[in-house]
Amino acid sequence: MNRAVLSVRNLSVSVQTGLGLARVVDRLSFSLREGEVLGLVGESGCGKSITAAALMGLVPSPAGIVTADQIMLGDKNLVQLDEASLRRVRGSEISMIFQEPLTALDPVFSIGSQLSTVIRRHRGENRHQARRSSVEMLERVGMADAHRIMQSYPHQLSGGMRQRVMIAMAMACRPRVLIADEPTTALDVTTQAQVLEQLSELGQSFGTAILLITHDLGVVAQACDRALIMYCGRIVEEAPVEALFTAPTHPYTAGLLAAVPRISSAQVQRVQAIPGLVPHPAALPDGCHFADRCPRADSQCRTLTPQLQAVDGQKSIHRHACHHPLSSPSHAH
Ligand SMILES: Nc1ncnc2c1ncn2[C@@H]1O[C@H](COP(=O)(O)OP(=O)(O)OP(=O)(O)O)[C@@H](O)[C@H]1O
Ligand code: SF4
Ligand SMILES: [Mg+2]
Repeated sequence: MNRAVLSVRNLSVSVQTGLGLARVVDRLSFSLREGEVLGLVGESGCGKSITAAALMGLVPSPAGIVTADQIMLGDKNLVQLDEASLRRVRGSEISMIFQEPLTALDPVFSIGSQLSTVIRRHRGENRHQARRSSVEMLERVGMADAHRIMQSYPHQLSGGMRQRVMIAMAMACRPRVLIADEPTTALDVTTQAQVLEQLSELGQSFGTAILLITHDLGVVAQACDRALIMYCGRIVEEAPVEALFTAPTHPYTAGLLAAVPRISSAQVQRVQAIPGLVPHPAALPDGCHFADRCPRADSQCRTLTPQLQAVDGQKSIHRHACHHPLSSPSHAH
């Protein structure tokens, strides 16, 4: 298996809510490996974006409290870096793109000017070189008329084009890690597929590992090698994508999959939504946070927190946090 480029141990984030302090990310541990696209998946509010912000060192303080044993990016522990060093790492070794690129692009500067500025700052190129590199990056993200795009302003581009510009900007410095937070959610399905394709191609050719945040299992199926399933701030299942879709072991993952509409032999299957509501982060139940919605829950689930462990033996890279996983034949329900 490839080496880890990003290795996270026990990352937690607490925020103040109307109902008191809430731990919205709870002891997250995972590795992102060289060359892979790792999905971070879960329903709205489960803590995906705030995890990304914590990894980038961008959780606003004192509103949010971040703790972690380590966030290793290569041989640097980001937890121990001061703000100035973190700023150097951001954009050059780890960078990020967001759902709505309009908020990240400045409306008063041309695309060429914004892209060149980023390239000059991080690569130390002169104005002329930076413009050439900008055109090259735009071409690499699939923009045939890169010279015209350079002269354009953000509002003159379509959503898909703006997202390509953001990818070009985020990837211009060939970062080790790219965090993409719902990068295609605002796009139509065809554009989404093209942008995802371009993203993974560029990741491959630049050797950039990608953490792809999404609530959409279709995006996971299309673009990811592995995925982490998150529920109420915790990872509940971690698996290669194929295993996740063919043999999910956590009841929550199974519930998510059952809620995806499928069209088979001209017949639309009825989808089964997971019953119940996600608990408020400041009022999480003891034990397994999914217990109130889980058909397999028992008293053990309501008292003991299930730990993430290998599904079948120590070496498996398929892991789950569940007392009565679906693979377990001994548990009859
Ligand atoms: N700056 C903040 N201050 C207070 N609470 C916050 C802040 N940012 C996020 N939260 C809370 O943390 C929890 C996780 O939010 P987060 O934005 O990470 O969810 P998400 O999984 O990205 O959801 P979505 O799919 O809707 O983007 C939510 O309960 C949210 O209300
Ligand atoms: S630990 Fe229990 S409640 Fe939680 S998902 Fe597993 S079976 Fe369901
Ligand atoms: Mg989010």
